[in-house]
Amino acid sequence: MGILIQEMTIEDYQDVRNLWEQTEGIETADTDSREGLSRFLERNPGLSFVARDGENIVGVVLCGHDGRRGYIDQLAVRKSYRRQGIGRSLVSRCVYNLMRIGIRKWHLFVFEDNEEAIKFWNKLGWAKRVELVTMSRDYANEGNI
Ligand SMILES: CC(C)(COP(=O)(O)OP(=O)(O)OC[C@H]1O[C@@H](n2cnc3c(N)ncnc32)[C@H](O)[C@@H]1OP(=O)(O)O)[C@@H](O)C(=O)NCCC(=O)NCCS
Repeated sequence: MGILIQEMTIEDYQDVRNLWEQTEGIETADTDSREGLSRFLERNPGLSFVARDGENIVGVVLCGHDGRRGYIDQLAVRKSYRRQGIGRSLVSRCVYNLMRIGIRKWHLFVFEDNEEAIKFWNKLGWAKRVELVTMSRDYANEGNI
């Protein structure tokens, strides 16, 4: 049986979480809780996907947009399934669906030392933005709320 790319639902949560936790280059945060993912999928319907080999989830990608730009996050393919085009297929589904709703520009975050992922994204035509830095603030961890 081949690999199927399917829309992610919250029913996939535990398998997806397990895959993220077993994947180098992926960090999970409190926003990756079941509740957080549920909210994300409701806000961005039909944009996040899993790759399945039979019952098993072997790849995942989260995708959303803010009305102007698209964002791709937490892309992971199980190690033994890499270099078969699954990562490319997952990203293509995101891009296709965002193009259909008029989003033509995307951003994503990659850890600077994740050279393999950077090579992958380069291969898919994505470019590193050397002129940008990421600024973040996390009120939840400051004890302010
Ligand atoms: C990055 C990742 C998702 C790629 O998944 P994949 O299914 O192996 O990728 P694909 O097979 O679709 O590869 C697509 C293209 O990228 C190339 N590519 C993939 N990984 C590569 C690597 N490490 N180095 C060089 N090229 C690579 C492939 O050769 C292929 O090119 P081709 O179509 O010309 O043959 C996977 O390696 C992974 O899960 N890594 C760990 C998690 C991670 O770092 N995620 C990204 C966070 S931003």
